[in-house]
Parts: sequence; structure tokens; C-alpha cells
Amino acid sequence: MSNVTVIGTQWGDEGKGKIVDWLASRADIVVRFQGGHNAGHTLVVGDQVYKLSLLPSGLVRGKTGVIGNGVVVDPEALLSEIDRVSAQGLVVNPETLWVADNVPLILPLHVATDRAREAARGDRKIGTTGRGIGPAYEDKVARRAIRLCDLAEPETLDWKLDELLLHHNTLLAGLGAATFTKQEILDHLARLAPRVLPYACSVWERLDEARRAGRRILFEGAQAVMLDVDHGTYPFVTSSNTVAAVAASGSGVGPGSVGFVLGIAKAYTTRVGEGPFPSELFDDVGQKLGERGREFGTVTGRPRRCGWFDAVLVRRASRVGGVNGIALTKLDVLDGFEEVKICIGYELDGQMITSFPSSPAAQARLKPVFESMPGWQETTFGARSWADLPAAAIKYIRRIEELIEAPVTLLSTSPERDDTILMRDPFED
Ligand code: GDP
Ligand code: IMO
Ligand code: MG
Repeated sequence: MSNVTVIGTQWGDEGKGKIVDWLASRADIVVRFQGGHNAGHTLVVGDQVYKLSLLPSGLVRGKTGVIGNGVVVDPEALLSEIDRVSAQGLVVNPETLWVADNVPLILPLHVATDRAREAARGDRKIGTTGRGIGPAYEDKVARRAIRLCDLAEPETLDWKLDELLLHHNTLLAGLGAATFTKQEILDHLARLAPRVLPYACSVWERLDEARRAGRRILFEGAQAVMLDVDHGTYPFVTSSNTVAAVAASGSGVGPGSVGFVLGIAKAYTTRVGEGPFPSELFDDVGQKLGERGREFGTVTGRPRRCGWFDAVLVRRASRVGGVNGIALTKLDVLDGFEEVKICIGYELDGQMITSFPSSPAAQARLKPVFESMPGWQETTFGARSWADLPAAAIKYIRRIEELIEAPVTLLSTSPERDDTILMRDPFED
């Protein structure tokens, strides 16, 4: 009986939320371990749609939700998300939601710095979500972050904020943006502290107890391997590590607790924000994928860039992410195409390559090499068994497995929770 860790294998929005919600019925605890409210996970349960950014998707199943130390938390965003989902009937209280008391906080100055820097980058912008994620992680590593536990010792905030403001105000002033006063930030934190502090606890200890008691833990990744700060398309990445190994360090458990790593991959590829995307389509096929897949960012509403499935990237993401099995999502979006294509390599400066270079300049020059396969006209939308799939769709899945060198163990055929086909139960591995 294993724990399970879910990670994205492309550039995010693969459908991690839907799969985590589905798997959560088999788990006791669901843990977020990196990222912040840059994530947007959409769950469809009957006529209810839940859009979660910071809260672990397991809360929708009534499971314990945990925000681990590897997450960066905007307390205002957290409280407004709690209010929003509570209005939808979910029970969120300090019994059902545990937040690590050592999480770094995202403050309004992080949002201001994120946005001012993006504006200054002009054409070279990263296309961040503008939520202060990068600056908050920078402050953590620079050892000047305000952490959740600091709110319980307000007398220490004075000098901590001096250091933080020195850094951010210097930067903001240099970029011609408005600066912050200490009093503004103190008032902001004093207002939020009484509501957010009750959720603070020693997450590592509670997870340790849960583990000893034999409870099953599901780790919910945000973003994806190609957005990982080390392994992704740097600098067009997010500011955290997104690979499965981080489930351990980002929640305070040993690496043995990560368990089965389920990589989520869309049956095609999308990306929000800037950066290289070799299999991107600029024609009506790309437009059709976007329309059929309803590819608009959950967080920012930006249209997602669309392209064919890139097997080179998913193979690489599976390797560095430690993936044991793939959940292939949104297969139904490919219904009705004459042909479907898979990117099997790239042409770089006249040479065929089947690996992904690290240099952003080389990444930008990659030209995709596609393999074409017959499409299928039958619908797979809502299919709940392998036997319901057309032969051409099965061939497509089998070819993907071959190319990415990893088995497809789960299939998703609509946004709805139960439109899911299980081939191999990750908790039983
Ligand atoms: P996440 O960030 O990885 O959790 O993914 P998002 O929730 O941001 O984006 C995935 C979108 O696709 C959401 O709107 C889901 O409701 C939807 N979705 C998930 N799985 C499927 C599927 O198999 N078919 C279709 N048509 N939509 C899906
Ligand atoms: P989920 O969990 C897709 C992208 C942004 C931008 C880059 C850096 O829903 O899959 P950041 O604000 O993190 O500094 O932005 O990362 N990005 C995502 N793209 N899905 C996400 O999360 C993302 N989180 C960040 O668009 O390109
Ligand atoms: Mg998303």
C-alpha cells in the first residue's frame, strides 16, 4: 500500500486537479508541497465546479488538506479562497486544513515587485501570473521572508520588515513603481493574523503521526516539470521545483513517503505565458484544440497556446520527475480530427535530435518533427471503460506509451470526476 504523488509533465493545466480529486477517494490526506496560488485546479462534480488555487483538491472529498512548507502562501488569497469554497458547501476549518507554520508569506510588496519587473522586461517578459510567487521564493532563499509563525510574534515583525522593505522599496523605486511603508504592511498582517493563525501547525509532525498510523497520503503537485526552475524551459519557468522529489522536502517527510509517482499528461500540449513550445500550432488545428479543450487559464483567463503532443518532452519529464505511470487526460478533445500528430524529435540547425537542449536560444530554434496517425470520428467523451474506446484512439495511446517509455495507467475523458478509466491503481503499487 503506497502513497501517491501527482505531478504535471508538460507546462501545467494537464488536469492534475481532476485526477487528484478522483484519487482522493482512496486517500486520507492530500498535501500541496510547492507553488502557490499561481496554480489553478478545476474540479467538476455534478453541477458544481470548484476552482482551487491554494487549497488542496482533497478538501472537496472531505479529506484532510495540508499546505506544506514548500508552498508560498498569500494569507489574503488563502482566506478569500476559504470563504469562496465554504460558500459552495465545503468544510474548511483548522481540523480539515493544516498549514505549515514555517511557510513563507506572499505580501502585497511581492505582487508589486513581480508586476513591476515584468513590465520592465517588456518583450522579454516571462508572462508570470503576477501573484508575487517569484519574489516570495527569492525572499525565502535570501533568508528575509516573513513566515506564518512570525505572525504569532508581532513584536519581531518590526525589524524583519525593515530588512524586507529595504530590498523591495529599493527595487520598486528603481523601477519607478510605488513603494510601501512599514505601517501599511503591519496593518495588513495584523488584520489577517487572527483568521489565518488558527490553521498554522507543525505539519511535519502531524504527517509523521499519520504515516505511522498507516494513513494514505496523496501529494498534489502544482505547475509541471517543464516549468520546474531547474528542469524546465528556464528562464520561462516558475520559481519552485515541481518534480516529485519535492513532495518530501516540501512537506517534511522522508523521500520514501513519495510513493507511486503519477505524471499527468494532456493528450496534446498547452502552455500559458511566454517561452519555447516546439510543437505549438498557429493554424486552425491549434485554434480547434483551444476551442474544444476550452483552453483558457484558470488563474489569469489568458488563452492557452496549443500544439500536438510532444513525446520528447514528456519522456524527459517522466525521467527527471521519477514517473511510474501516466494519467493521460483530455483524450476526448482529439475526437473528430482526420489525423493526430505526435512530436517525436526536432530539427536543430539542420540536424535531427531526440533530446531537449538546455539553452533557451537553441530551444527557440527547435523545429518539430511530427509522426502522423489516423484520427477517430467516434466520441470518447465521457468514456468509462477501455472497451468504449475506438481502435484508433487505443493505437494513439499505445504509441505514446512507446515513445515516452512509461505506461498509461489512467485515462480521463471529460472534466467530470467519474469519467475516468483506471488501468492500474497507483495506491496498490
Ligand atoms: P490543472 O492545473 O493541472 O489542475 O488543470 P486545470 O484545472 O487548470 O485545467 C484542466 C482543464 O481541463 C479543467 O478545466 C478541467 O475541468 C478540464 N479537464 C480535465 N480533464 C479533462 C478531460 O479528460 N477532458 C476534458 N474535456 N476536460 C478535462
Ligand atoms: P497549474 O498548477 C500553467 C506559468 C505562468 C508563467 C510561469 C511563471 O494550474 O498547472 P509564476 O507566476 O509562477 O512566476 O509564472 O509559470 N504558470 C503556470 N502555467 N499552470 C500553472 O499552474 C501555472 N503556474 C505558473 O503562466 O508562464
Ligand atoms: Mg491549472
